[in-house]
Amino acid sequence: MRRSKRIETLDQRPVNKDGYINEWPEMGFVSMHSPYDPEPSVKVQNGKIVELDGKARAEFDFIDQFIADYAINIERAEKSMAVPSLDIAKMIVDIHVPRKEILELITGITPAKMAEVMNHLNVVELMMGMQKMRARKIPGNQAHITNLKDDPVQIAADAAEGALRGFAEEETTMGVARYAPLSSIALLIGSQVGRPGVLTQCSAEEATELELGIRGLTTYAETLSVYGTEKVFIDGDDTPYSKAFLNSAYASRGLKVRFTSGSGSEVLMGSSEKKSMLYLECRCLFATKGAGSQGIQNGSVSCIGVTGAVPGGIREVIAENLVAALLGLECASSNDQSFSNSDMRRTARTMLQFLPGTDFIFSGYAAEPNYDNMFAGSNFDAEDFDDYNVLQRDMQVDGGLRPVTEEEVIRVRSKAGKAVQAVFRHLGLTPVSDEQVEAVTYAHGSKDTLPRDVTADLMAAEDVLKRGITGVDIVRALAETGFQDVAQSVLNMLKQRVIGDYMQTSAILDRNFHVLSGVNTPNDYMGPGTGYRVEGERWEEIKKIPHIINPKDI
Ligand code: 5AD
Ligand code: CA
Repeated sequence: MRRSKRIETLDQRPVNKDGYINEWPEMGFVSMHSPYDPEPSVKVQNGKIVELDGKARAEFDFIDQFIADYAINIERAEKSMAVPSLDIAKMIVDIHVPRKEILELITGITPAKMAEVMNHLNVVELMMGMQKMRARKIPGNQAHITNLKDDPVQIAADAAEGALRGFAEEETTMGVARYAPLSSIALLIGSQVGRPGVLTQCSAEEATELELGIRGLTTYAETLSVYGTEKVFIDGDDTPYSKAFLNSAYASRGLKVRFTSGSGSEVLMGSSEKKSMLYLECRCLFATKGAGSQGIQNGSVSCIGVTGAVPGGIREVIAENLVAALLGLECASSNDQSFSNSDMRRTARTMLQFLPGTDFIFSGYAAEPNYDNMFAGSNFDAEDFDDYNVLQRDMQVDGGLRPVTEEEVIRVRSKAGKAVQAVFRHLGLTPVSDEQVEAVTYAHGSKDTLPRDVTADLMAAEDVLKRGITGVDIVRALAETGFQDVAQSVLNMLKQRVIGDYMQTSAILDRNFHVLSGVNTPNDYMGPGTGYRVEGERWEEIKKIPHIINPKDI
């Protein structure tokens, strides 16, 4: 067949290198509604839920049981379920109905009802819902801080730059898992150099992650994964009960925790029970709420390749983010994995969270080049910083970041590298040379840095655990090597663990260690003239992008 040059050209476009699949409910490839999704229902007897979404209590799996016992306000259930789904959908977008009233009503509905409500909303309405229902008044952002070499010096420098650029939370993970203690220390120090009060976490195997948290080497935890079918949960050696227990372990030591879930995981793990991605994600979110978590990282997350491949998949992603907000959960709304070869498509996908604002628009913006991203690449990376800053300026939207100067970047990267060098020397960990600090200071990514002695690093990492090094040792090392201000910031982060205010829903800290959360700075959006507006100092900051034509220079 003679090819059309038009079609040939289109075939070569990046968007056609992405994967797409038709709806196939039997295998779970269906975004918002499957013909096999249950009809919403609830029956209460003697103060107990005896029927949930068409299933009698005797047929409950452990997720149904957990939701029925812990995630639904039983006194409200029958009353809330009697409100038609379309009416609830209308209340969500009605600026005259306050967030609080909706939160209260939602406490009594079931997962299937929640999915039905979402099916009444188009993407713009879902965004309107998010604008009103997000917990914290001011949106935020989270970064991934990782590199191919697991180089702690680069982690510190990238963390410092990321904090300077506005990220309220920073997380790391490793290529070589045993690096975790060094990665955590470097992230903790670097973040506080960049901007006091930034929260940090290290995504590692659960026992290690908990230990690092308890020792004060991290200041929050995020990857407590939950799933929407029993089979997938069990495959991960877990139940909603074990996750609730782990959540309590963190809470007992005053650490902020959020869970992680996201559509597509059950499809990927081959056990979706023919249900829609949205319905299964609703089950995850109800289980998260039942386990007492203050929040969730969701929006398909690492499974975006699956959700993004089906019709309506990107609509489903903002829908599941909104479900989290409707349940009163902090929502770190994904955008944290690359899923498309098309710059247009990856940007469009992010606009659904960027425009309304979420608690964390990205739950992992790669604050390094994507080749250094050990979470398998993010939707935006360090090379997109200026694009992102321009988008904020173009639309007068607060996406959680700010423009910076080259001078500031070099200064904080250098200071973070030197602080890590000093702490490692003081604690007798692996040496960091002046040349390494220098290389990292001016580097874009790990291709521009010097090699590390991996064997020595891993021995040092093990040593950190063996010797029982804690956050207090880091504070002392910083104080005794001339980094008093950083020592004070790390100490302040540890104090938060005793105060406990940052365990409130959607808490972040400002540079004076004041908590901003859904409790003391709740979202009060009720239409034009209300809620958070980008103005004053913040607007001036957003305007100051590099590369502006100055009329005086012409
Ligand atoms: N469902 C549950 N957990 C997820 N994670 C990522 N995507 C999902 C999802 N869709 C968690 C996993 C992973 C970490 C990066 O985040 O625990 O290891
Ligand atoms: Ca994350």
